[in-house]
This record gives sequence, C-alpha cells and structure tokens, in this order.
Amino acid sequence: MPRAYSITAEAIAEERQRVGDDLTKFDVSRVIRLDQLELREMGASDVHLRILAVSAEHNVNHAALADTVNITEVRGGKIYPGNSALGEVLGVGSQVTRFKPGEIVVTHCNGEPDSYGYPTRIWAYDQPESIGWYGEEAVVGDWQLVPAPLDCGLSLWEIAALPLRAPTAYHLWRRGHGILRLKIPREKLARLNVLAFGGGVSELFLMLARAEGHRALFCSGNPARRDALEKLGIEGIDQKAFNRFQDREGVRAFSKEIKQRTGGVGAHIVCDMMRGPVFAAGLTAMGREGVNVSAGWQLDKRISYDSAGASVKQITLDHTHFDTIDGSNACTALYGSVFKPTIHKEVYAFEDLPRAMHEMHQNTQTGIPIIRVTDKLPEAARAIAP
Ligand SMILES: NC(=O)c1ccc[n+]([C@@H]2O[C@H](COP(=O)([O-])OP(=O)(O)OC[C@H]3O[C@@H](n4cnc5c(N)ncnc54)[C@H](OP(=O)(O)O)[C@@H]3O)[C@@H](O)[C@H]2O)c1
Repeated sequence: MPRAYSITAEAIAEERQRVGDDLTKFDVSRVIRLDQLELREMGASDVHLRILAVSAEHNVNHAALADTVNITEVRGGKIYPGNSALGEVLGVGSQVTRFKPGEIVVTHCNGEPDSYGYPTRIWAYDQPESIGWYGEEAVVGDWQLVPAPLDCGLSLWEIAALPLRAPTAYHLWRRGHGILRLKIPREKLARLNVLAFGGGVSELFLMLARAEGHRALFCSGNPARRDALEKLGIEGIDQKAFNRFQDREGVRAFSKEIKQRTGGVGAHIVCDMMRGPVFAAGLTAMGREGVNVSAGWQLDKRISYDSAGASVKQITLDHTHFDTIDGSNACTALYGSVFKPTIHKEVYAFEDLPRAMHEMHQNTQTGIPIIRVTDKLPEAARAIAP
C-alpha cells in the first residue's frame, strides 16, 4: 500500500490538550502523521498517479489546528490531506483520452462545482470522501488534472508551487479587476494601485496586476519574500513597521503610507486573504471606488465595517473561493510568463512533510514550501529539477 499522510480527530484533540488550546504552541507536525492508503479501484474516467512533488498548503494547517472548523471531525474523524500535487500518469481508465501514461500533470482542487462552475467544496478538505495527495500514489478523476507546462521556464519545484495558489489568485484577480472596471472604465484610468498582504496567493495576485502594467504593492512581514517580489517590480512594504495592525495607530500609519505612495489616491484593488487586523488596514488604505477581494480568513472568519462609509466611498467587498475548472486549466498558460513563485530555500523530503507544515505555521519560511515525494523522477521532470 502506498504511504500517505493523514490527520485524525484524536491526534488534534491530543495536541490541543497538550498545549491547553494555545495555538501558538501547537505543533502541527505531531498531528499530520505518516500512514498508509488503500487506493480505490480505477474507474473508466480515472487516472492512476505517482506523486512527484507537492506544495504545503495553508488549509492543511487549518485542518490540523481545527482553528476555523474542525473539518477532520466533520468528515468522520480522519482525512487524507493535500490538495495540490504534481504527478506522473501511471495508467488511465478506458474512457480517458486527455492523458496517457508517462505524462506529467498537476491537480486542481475544485471539489464540486455549482451550476456556474464555482466550487461549492474543496477536494481533500470539505468534499465528502475526497482523498488528498500528500501520498506516494493516487487515483483521481481525469477532470481533476491539468497537463503540467514543463517548458514554461519554471523549475519543477516552482511548477509544484502553483496548482492551488495560482488558480485562487487568477480568480481573485479576474473578479477584483472586473468589478473595478464596472465602476472605473479603462479610458478614464489605465493604471491602478493594487495592494495585497503577505502569502503565496497574494504574491501571485500581484504578479497578475504587475503583468498588466499596474502599480503593485506587497505588504508583508517577511524581508526575503519582499526582496523576491521587488525583483519583479512589485514594491515591498514592511508590515512589521505597522506592528501587524495590532492597534489603531498601526492602521492609521499604514493608511497614511499608502496614500503617500499613491499621490493621495489609495488602493483601487486590495487582496486580503487574512482578515483579522489586516482587514481594517486594507479597508482604510482603499481609495474611492475601491474593491476588496478575499478568498481567505486565515486570522478571522468575521469582519465588521462601517457600511455607510463604504457606500459613500463606493467601496465593494467581494468574496471568492477557489477557481472554476476552466479557470484552473486556463491559468496554467501563465506559469513562467506571469507566475514566478518564490520557493522556500529548502525542498523538503517526503518524510519531512510534517516539519514543513509546522514551519509554515511558525511563519519562518522564505517562500512557498515544496515537498519532494520521490527521488525517482522521470526524465522529463528530472531535467528541470535543480
Ligand atoms: N478559498 C480558497 O480557495 C483559498 C485558496 C488558497 C488559500 N486560501 C486561504 O488563504 C489564506 C492564505 O493562503 P496562502 O496560500 O496565501 O498562505 P501562505 O502562502 O501560507 O501565506 C500565509 C501568510 O500569512 C501571513 N501571516 C502569518 N501570520 C500573520 C499575522 N499574524 N498577521 C498578518 N499576516 C500573517 C504571512 O505573511 P508575511 O509574514 O509575509 O507578512 C504568510 O506569508 C489561508 O488561510 C488559506 O487557507 C483559501
């Protein structure tokens, strides 16, 4: 049986008890444990994959911490996490025509689209029965795969950083930009001020904005990540200089800083995947007609704001989730040309995946964390794996 990581409700309860529910002391690596997985039988539309590399995704930490919802308990006490992967096709079902053995593919995690294609659930998170890809092998429906663009100029690890974060950013950008354009057409204002806060999704969001010629501002507490984005023409702002918005002073000073940098105008589009104290900072820094987009609630699920003030300023708040299946496919065309992800300096071994997740929780990584699942890479993948 292939090895795969799992999370159990018992492990979460044990660790929560050990740290007295203090999530700053919570050790994620004690909860994400190496296990085994019996693969389901191949159906006619299924693809059998050997996983080559995965990226550490933040919702796995949310699952381990049970900080937003205890999804493991909701799903019956055990999940196999991992909703972003790069793999080699080992075999295909009789009706599969898009893929053949030997091809390298990436997954997307749209678990169950509604009638317009928007995900109602996420694969390996809240989609019932879904099995994740933090394992050596997987059986997936062919609709969940996208050909990996191996010739896009990125390394294998950089490609592995993108399957979940890039579609999320691509959707956020289309929505935020589209809504803004409903209010301010291009002929009146060509160049927008676009602001986003730390995190892999936000970085990719700003790369989309920058690629279209807009001014992009990245407010992050991580100097390595700010430096990487500066090289792409994205301006860095040190979030820690504003005490991560823990008090009103920080929020006020940040708003002043953004207004100063934008000639008094403020941000036209803000991407806030954090909420919590970050939300107030983003809202205050927005200019008239601004749009605030979010698909995340890393620090808090709830927000509150002055509706009258937002009306007077023509502010729009928009909520999105992971991309549609079409969007997930389309955005791989931007790998390498627009999306140039920052990768954490260590590529983790498969056995070190729990440590990678814990270091993500501690927020000590210098870029998106990648886990190499196998040492036996096929030739096409080995050629771009530094
Ligand atoms: N709905 C969806 O489809 C979807 C898709 C992807 C992600 N998400 C969610 O969106 C959130 C962000 O995802 P991601 O992939 O961008 O995460 P990520 O790459 O792991 O980045 C998380 C970022 O959080 C920032 N951070 C940590 N502690 C903070 C604090 N106290 N105050 C302010 N910022 C803090 C850090 O930024 P700095 O240290 O650089 O400031 C860090 O880089 C997660 O909750 C994730 O689950 C949702």
